[in-house]
Amino acid sequence: MELSDVIEKRRTIRKFAAPPTEQQLKRMLESAAKAPSAGNRQAWFVIIIQDHETQERLGEIKKSLNASFTPDTERGRAVLQTQKDVFNNCTTLMVYTYAPEPDDPHRYNMGSAWLFVENLCLAAVPEGLGTKIFAYWDDAEEEVNQLLGVPKKYGSSPKELIKSSIK
Ligand SMILES: Cc1cc2nc3c(=O)[nH]c(=O)nc-3n(C[C@H](O)[C@H](O)[C@H](O)COP(=O)(O)O)c2cc1C
Repeated sequence: MELSDVIEKRRTIRKFAAPPTEQQLKRMLESAAKAPSAGNRQAWFVIIIQDHETQERLGEIKKSLNASFTPDTERGRAVLQTQKDVFNNCTTLMVYTYAPEPDDPHRYNMGSAWLFVENLCLAAVPEGLGTKIFAYWDDAEEEVNQLLGVPKKYGSSPKELIKSSIK
């Protein structure tokens, strides 16, 4: 498949039929890990979530988070439900990088992690797979980090960052 076709065909999918196979997932992660990175640190850390219960909980947290800015209308409620149901029939990859430190010359790790995500989304296309990017922030991010047991050095919401920089 030509790169231009891959770029053209990639689009966000919000309803999945089935998760990727282990081989597909492996190939996608290998492509993702070829992304450029600040200082060549390859500072991306991926949690692969395949069990239904955890994905269900991630969907509930995402739905509650988005409810704070989604209008309480029929359409709004349908959009929220989609944000939850997208966690069905898929594999969820949570991509982390180091929490930035104010004087860290590698504070661009976040950019590198996003390049990893973009490579992953593009690599899904020739596999015949779809992807959806999503994010958590503030209390929802903390909740997800606790749910997944993410060490503090990898995940840090802006609130947590402010707290640690005034310490
Ligand atoms: C940083 C980032 C966060 C996103 N968060 C969400 C999200 O929470 N929910 C969602 O449905 N789509 C999310 N998206 C997907 C965008 O809505 C989507 O990329 C955009 O509408 C363009 O559509 P396309 O990807 O099909 O080209 C996110 C995309 C990015 C890059």
